[in-house]
Amino acid sequence: MTTVAPPWTYALQLPQDPRAPGIARRTLRAVLHAHRLGALVEIAELLASELVTNALRHTDGPYGLRLRAPEQGRLRLGVWDTCPDIPAPFEGLPRRPAPDAEGGRGLCLVAVCADAWGATALPQGGKLLWVELGGGAR
Ligand SMILES: Nc1ncnc2c1ncn2[C@@H]1O[C@H](COP(=O)(O)OP(=O)(O)O)[C@@H](O)[C@H]1O
Ligand SMILES: [Mg+2]
Repeated sequence: MTTVAPPWTYALQLPQDPRAPGIARRTLRAVLHAHRLGALVEIAELLASELVTNALRHTDGPYGLRLRAPEQGRLRLGVWDTCPDIPAPFEGLPRRPAPDAEGGRGLCLVAVCADAWGATALPQGGKLLWVELGGGAR
């Protein structure tokens, strides 16, 4: 059997359906295990879950998960959606939710747990929020 060396990419488009985040998690697990990135599954699943659930909750169009291994042992995970707004802290400014705020900490956790993270405005509209894992920096 021939296997694909990095870089490789998978893309999954998701609908506004409550089953979609679970399908994204299962797809992510399958890809990481198949490409011998099982060590990243737990953290990748948490971060993907947060980003995908945000796209479901806070935007109203299609959205999607992109998985890419720029090199062996490293994962770049991105979630795109059709809303152009880039939420904090991905828009570049550090953000601390008010101490008594009941929500708004998910993306802070994502930024803390990722080895690298960022946001890109998409030429066709919308944006991509991405994180990288497996860089050995953590
Ligand atoms: N994909 C997104 N597109 C637009 N706004 C978003 C997106 N994700 C998050 N946001 C905004 O950023 C806020 C903070 O997100 P987050 O830290 O995940 O907390 P929560 O989801 O609990 O509100 C959200 O309440 C929402 O207003
Ligand atoms: Mg959230």
